Amino acid sequence: MIARAPLDNAFGDRLETYRERVNRRLAQAISNGDGTPRRLRAAMEYSVLGAGKRVRPLLAYASGELAGVAAESVDAIAASVELVHAYSLVHDDLPAMDDDDLRRGRPTTHRQFDEATAILAGDALQALAFETLSTDDVLASHPAAARLEVVAWLARAAGPAGMVGGQSLDMEAEGRRAGEAALENIHRRKTGALMRASIMMPSLLADMPAAARDKLDAFSRNLGLVFQIRDDLLEVEQDTVTLGKSAGSDRANDKSTYPAVLGVDGARARAHELHKHASAMLESLGPGADGLAWLANFILRRSS
Ligand code: IPE
Ligand code: IPE
Ligand code: MG
Ligand code: MG
Repeated sequence: MIARAPLDNAFGDRLETYRERVNRRLAQAISNGDGTPRRLRAAMEYSVLGAGKRVRPLLAYASGELAGVAAESVDAIAASVELVHAYSLVHDDLPAMDDDDLRRGRPTTHRQFDEATAILAGDALQALAFETLSTDDVLASHPAAARLEVVAWLARAAGPAGMVGGQSLDMEAEGRRAGEAALENIHRRKTGALMRASIMMPSLLADMPAAARDKLDAFSRNLGLVFQIRDDLLEVEQDTVTLGKSAGSDRANDKSTYPAVLGVDGARARAHELHKHASAMLESLGPGADGLAWLANFILRRSS
């Protein structure tokens, strides 16, 4: 049986508590680095502790609720996925990639500091993610095999078959019109892989029946794609101030995006269809999945 967390209030009421938890753990992870050069640490803090939505950590906590894993055991997982995400944004914004000047409503890290510092801050954040996972005191109370699997999931999600592979394909597709299948592959890797890991990692610490874990996996795979389609749509629907990042960036870089390939209405319809498939996966998982369902709705409808 899947242990169920008490769900006496809506996930929306627990958001801020979870955001505060992960922000504390992130600050702790960065401050633990004895001997970190001052400028590098400033760039790391700037990149991580800004106004991110913390969607991946929230997915990890909601997955922990479903699996019956205490929030204390999810903290390091939540922080590690956000560290990888923050590093991916710093590198994504570099002149050699999307060349963006604005992120989370502020100058991008290479604009605020310099390119070399931004590259190094990203490198440092990625290493720190794995240090956080492998040295966390609470995670240490879980079986070593489960912890190792958690680390492997993050490595695969971040690596060549996951986020970095997706970023590579995204760059290759610039100036070309990728077909829908190729675009789906890019999005599943560059964004979907880390979201999938955020949801699956807490479940590895629990004794979850294989059928339930398969449903959770199918949910997580669809949700990551919804997230990136929504991101593509927001670039054409929203203004730069609301987004906190440049609204015209995809067009300026001639990116392959869902609105470019399917049209705005087609992209919206695809996001709704995937969201429906994702939500259906949660139905048999019971009320413990309410947090994940709440986040899936948020991801479909978000405006920034
Ligand atoms: C932006 O992610 C980059 C993508 C992978 C689409 P988020 O929209 O989660 O960015 P923050 O963390 O809230 O800034
Ligand atoms: C971001 O993709 C994906 C990663 C950083 C891995 P995008 O380039 O589409 O995201 P934004 O619009 O810059 O946030
Ligand atoms: Mg990009
Ligand atoms: Mg970008």
